[in-house]
Amino acid sequence: MEKTARAADKAAEKAVQRCIDSACGAIYGLRERIYVCPRCGGTLEIDCHLDAAGDPAAIRKRWEERAASRDPRDVSGVWRYREMLPFDEPIPFVTLFEGNTPLYHGPRSARYCGLDDLRLKHQGCNPTGSFKDTGMTTAITQAVVLGARTAVCASTGNTSASLAAYAGRAGLQSAVLLPRGQISAGKLAQSLDYGALVCEIDGNFDDCMRLIQELGDDPSIYVANSINPFRIEGQKTVAFEMMEQCLWQVPDHVVVPGGNMGNSTALGKGFQELLDLGLIGRLPKLSAIQAEGAAPVAQLFATLDLTRADGGANLPATMAPVENPRTLATAIKIGAPVSWKKALRAVLRSGGRIISVSEQEIADAKAMIGRDGIGCEPGSATTVAGIKKLVAAGHIRADENVIAVLTGHMLKDPDYVSAYHRGTLALDSGAKDGSGAPQPIHGAFQNSPERVAANKAAILATLERRR
Ligand code: F0G
Repeated sequence: MEKTARAADKAAEKAVQRCIDSACGAIYGLRERIYVCPRCGGTLEIDCHLDAAGDPAAIRKRWEERAASRDPRDVSGVWRYREMLPFDEPIPFVTLFEGNTPLYHGPRSARYCGLDDLRLKHQGCNPTGSFKDTGMTTAITQAVVLGARTAVCASTGNTSASLAAYAGRAGLQSAVLLPRGQISAGKLAQSLDYGALVCEIDGNFDDCMRLIQELGDDPSIYVANSINPFRIEGQKTVAFEMMEQCLWQVPDHVVVPGGNMGNSTALGKGFQELLDLGLIGRLPKLSAIQAEGAAPVAQLFATLDLTRADGGANLPATMAPVENPRTLATAIKIGAPVSWKKALRAVLRSGGRIISVSEQEIADAKAMIGRDGIGCEPGSATTVAGIKKLVAAGHIRADENVIAVLTGHMLKDPDYVSAYHRGTLALDSGAKDGSGAPQPIHGAFQNSPERVAANKAAILATLERRR
């Protein structure tokens, strides 16, 4: 008992939970099970006391040594950076050995965007096929620390798959709230297989999120959506891993998809902490890309006077949600993102942009990433589509150093890919009664299967025709 109390005190020394609203700024202990500020309802973030981490050269060396170690804490690409995380030893960490994802060059995608070079950080190579695992390992570990019984989330499919897997590892019950009929088959199958209670809700993701906020009051429940600041802590380690892979040469731009805006928040926080510690000398410009039909933050961003945004110090108080979000990139079909304020602050501080791209632009960018031999899901391809637009607009120069973060694996949504290549991809009209013509997406890089006779000559002739 005494030992636990001592550990709690030490953890409190290491970090606190803080309300990001500058007019409030309330501080809470790490063991308080809260998801928004109890005083003002604002968003929370973890404030780590980083000075204990050591000097920059020693930190880099320690991380490098751990990358060669077989200690399970070092094999995980999140827990390897544990001095940056709000947990005290011994950590009851729940891991599937997440992180350690590849950073590829994408020459065809680079040319497509008008860049000399483009690198793609493939977070879809995580254990459940999406970037969510890097944050779920810390969120479920915190659920264990707090003695929670059931972990829950609202999801467009990837958070739920990840939560179900990590809760399974921890032996916790899990429940996921999914908008009925709006989740890809692969993602739904994952949650079922990992043993979660799958609640199919009549409504969209934002309705599921509202329900989660009500459920969070129950003492048996632990909410693992990215509103939970412990999720962000795990996800921020991607910035550390990326910098190691870049041999500490700071990229000019890092570009991520924007849905609930947790990922942009997390990367912004990761880079900021590296800057505060002196591990990097400047921030990369962080940009987030939304799908046109689900782009409330991009719409807000377009109204800002960037000359007066004051590096994120002057944030707008409210954001108008999109009532009926529409996109075939179902992962980011979100009209009222919960982390918009934290993400907007991070983007403004870095000098990045938040823009939107069309369904056609997403689909073609996805096919182009595929031509580089890299399979991602539609939501992830917003990055390459967005970079192409930002190059055309002059925000990114052709010779700049750019990294796109791919967030999910292609096999998450093979129906979309198949429909694109067969020329049958289309977006519903969005009318509640099902009326109105669907909007077809033209497969500019279509590659439909061919029926070929079962003989060598026919196969060679087909190859010749396509050379
Ligand atoms: N890419 C993929 C593949 C996603 O699944 C998501 C979000 C995002 C991008 C956007 O990230 O929300 O941090 O801005 N998926 C959530 C889910 C909402 O429930 O799986 P974000």
